[in-house]
Amino acid sequence: MLWVKAFHIVFVVSWFAGLFYLPRIFVNLAMVPADSRAERERLLLMARKLYRFITPLGVLAIALGLWLWFGFGFSGGWLHAKTALVVVLAAYHLWCGRLLAGFAEGAPTRTHVWFRFFNEVPVLVLIAICILVVVKPF
Ligand code: HEM
Repeated sequence: MLWVKAFHIVFVVSWFAGLFYLPRIFVNLAMVPADSRAERERLLLMARKLYRFITPLGVLAIALGLWLWFGFGFSGGWLHAKTALVVVLAAYHLWCGRLLAGFAEGAPTRTHVWFRFFNEVPVLVLIAICILVVVKPF
């Protein structure tokens, strides 16, 4: 069980590294002047590579979490609340994919200020999940 939990945490941390950085690239993309094509293409390339890289990491983090849950008999309200937050996180991840497609199509995007607030969502979810899984308050 400890090996599964160790790799669960490794993939969780790797997934979050991308969930913290990808919206930061969106902040920069939303600030790129319209005539700076080279900079826009460079940021888009970084975002595409990052999104492709973190998607399997997120899948592995969740798969190992489910293995812990169903393979080792964990239970409790904390686990249901945690899983609900993970669904929010997965939706956030997919929303990033939609936003990235929008940037690539040159569709009008939200302001860089909006993306700064958007960037804070994974931080709040991470804090809540870590309290739930370590403290197990209910
Ligand atoms: C559906 C997805 C997930 C499920 C079913 C799940 C389930 C679990 C279970 C059963 C444990 C073992 C708890 C224990 O040993 O007391 C665990 C550990 C852990 N999980 Fe998840 N997890 C999921 C996703 C995540 C995510 C997205 C995070 C991100 C913060 C996360 C963070 C952790 C941490 C930090 C631990 C270690 C806790 C400890 O050792 O005290 N998990 N997870």
